[in-house]
Amino acid sequence: MTDGKGLFITATGTDVGKTYVTALIVKKLREAGHSAGYYKAALSGVEKTAAGFRAGDAGYVADVAGIAEEETGNFVSYVYEKAVSPHLAAQLEGNPVKMAVVMAAYQQALARYDYVTMEGSGGIVCPLRYDDDAQLLLEDVITALGLSALVVADAGLGTINATVLTVDYMKRRGIPVKGIILNRYDAADAVMRDNKKMVEILTRVPVIACVKKDEAAIAIDAATLAGLYG
Ligand SMILES: Nc1ncnc2c1ncn2[C@@H]1O[C@H](COP(=O)(O)OP(=O)(O)O)[C@@H](O)[C@H]1O
Ligand SMILES: [Mg+2]
Repeated sequence: MTDGKGLFITATGTDVGKTYVTALIVKKLREAGHSAGYYKAALSGVEKTAAGFRAGDAGYVADVAGIAEEETGNFVSYVYEKAVSPHLAAQLEGNPVKMAVVMAAYQQALARYDYVTMEGSGGIVCPLRYDDDAQLLLEDVITALGLSALVVADAGLGTINATVLTVDYMKRRGIPVKGIILNRYDAADAVMRDNKKMVEILTRVPVIACVKKDEAAIAIDAATLAGLYG
């Protein structure tokens, strides 16, 4: 059974705050009593230890959102040690991403949770696999899973360009963008306030929330958030 609904989280680049924001989203849904989980197809830059691999993005989200560690086993399908794009990591380490594996894992997540937040890798243009046997881009997965998306963008300088380019690319690929979240936002900063306004004007996508530095809750109500899924 695949009863749950999904939402994809991308960003204007790597380290912009996908995991941080995803954790707050999953936390908010769970605090409102929803069954909410997490999924990520490919995670790069994870240290492998004798005990397995360090939990990385999935572990962080589980910690913040209060998901027991035993539940996180299928939260990530592919883990690579090198902190490079999954396609390159697989060329170096083996174990390339297979669409069928990602599809099955995602369906499994939908069967288990009502709300599955899927975090991307890097920004929106991210090759997951590129070898003689198959070429798979992140957007192919988003499209195959039929997901709508949120874009996390840094609130500061440079974000108008990065956000407009990202949203435009997604629209051209037929991926619905439900909202933008500005991360590391400071309402006292006039540049950031202007960025919020200009990003909305130029993308015609609403900024649905602004997340401050070290913020422990996202300022959007759980019902609105839940309405973005599916
Ligand atoms: N609002 C924030 N306040 C404090 N630290 C943040 C915030 N957003 C992101 N970070 C930190 O910045 C780093 C990169 O964020 P992360 O969410 O991992 O990015 P991504 O998942 O897009 O690669 C992490 O160490 C994270 O904890
Ligand atoms: Mg991340």
